[in-house]
Amino acid sequence: MSTLDLVNLHKRFGNVDAVNHINLSVGNGEFLCILGPSGCGKSTALRMIAGFETPTSGDVRIDGASVVEMPPNRRPTAMVFQKYTLWPHMKVYENIAFGLHLRRLPRAEIDRKVQGALDLVGLSSYGPRYPAQLSGGEQQRIALARALVLEPKILLLDEPFSNLDALLRVRLREELRRIQRQVHITAIFVTHDQEEALSLADRIAVMSKGQIEQLDKPSVIYAHPQTLFVADFIGAMNLLQATASGDKLQIGTQALPLPAAVNGSGTITVAIRPEDLALVPSSETQANAWMGTVEQLMDMGHYRKGIVNVPDVGRVKVYLSKSLSLNENDRVALAPVRYLVYQNGQPPVEVSRQLDRGVLAYN
Ligand SMILES: Nc1ncnc2c1ncn2[C@@H]1O[C@H](COP(=O)(O)OP(=O)(O)O)[C@@H](O)[C@H]1O
Ligand SMILES: [Mg+2]
Repeated sequence: MSTLDLVNLHKRFGNVDAVNHINLSVGNGEFLCILGPSGCGKSTALRMIAGFETPTSGDVRIDGASVVEMPPNRRPTAMVFQKYTLWPHMKVYENIAFGLHLRRLPRAEIDRKVQGALDLVGLSSYGPRYPAQLSGGEQQRIALARALVLEPKILLLDEPFSNLDALLRVRLREELRRIQRQVHITAIFVTHDQEEALSLADRIAVMSKGQIEQLDKPSVIYAHPQTLFVADFIGAMNLLQATASGDKLQIGTQALPLPAAVNGSGTITVAIRPEDLALVPSSETQANAWMGTVEQLMDMGHYRKGIVNVPDVGRVKVYLSKSLSLNENDRVALAPVRYLVYQNGQPPVEVSRQLDRGVLAYN
């Protein structure tokens, strides 16, 4: 049975449908990320699960029972927010113990649980400190400890690492995943950061304008984006306008094979990931390769990003191996080996091609 079910859940503010009839089931122990751009309704959805916001219609069910009439403190949920929300006048110990005092637990049990929570987040000796004596990352670990000490069924996190620097964000991400697995808690993590979602989640719900565009495993979302929005939002993507002409997909003066499942009418968009463009030596004759000029190369450490200007197509993003001796202004041929064809709001038609025999791809 699912831990959490959102059933036709809707929230309207004035004339804005912040959350627009979403349906979602989250399993016991699952780590689900809600991913989408700012303003798409992520926080509103999470706040309805926590009980800080009342749905306009629809239902929130935990273990099969509706909780919409239940105040936040009675729900088996606990929330971690983006901004540090520790009480500044209380020591770390008291911050974590607060919810347990409200539950009137015996002193010895509170001590034991607070220490257990501190151990879990790797800050065993921090009980006597005040929040002002902690770094941002430490404060968020304590906020996590304060949520976990209540032993909620569902842990809710609203962009908890967004205020931290990039390196710390990655460290805490790994830490959170370890803790979530260790205590086997159901977690719902809201973020606008696709990398965070791809690396953390068992499943991602991609949201746009109050609706769920796609719900799937990270690898599936990345490889098979079902809408143009998801294709554009997740990972780097070249989106190119195309028309059907005979058995070709015409993109400017360049062509690709037209998949049989695509009918000729209407606007067609071809989506190609940078890693799905093989760069082949320009001297090779390669069917359906596109000639272009390397406009820009960016060193990314273990690989390079390139921008290739293809006449009548535009500036195309590619990823290049470090070992490749290639310079700006070099002429190259690009061969798309995998692409997705979107038409009329339908799920895409996916095409994979082999390079011609004997051609050595640079990347
Ligand atoms: N209390 C509120 N009153 C009016 N509008 C709100 C309120 N909270 C959120 N909204 C609106 O609802 C939409 C979704 O907001 P939110 O859930 O905060 O998005 P996200 O967390 O994805 O950035 C936005 O258009 C926002 O302006
Ligand atoms: Mg938000």
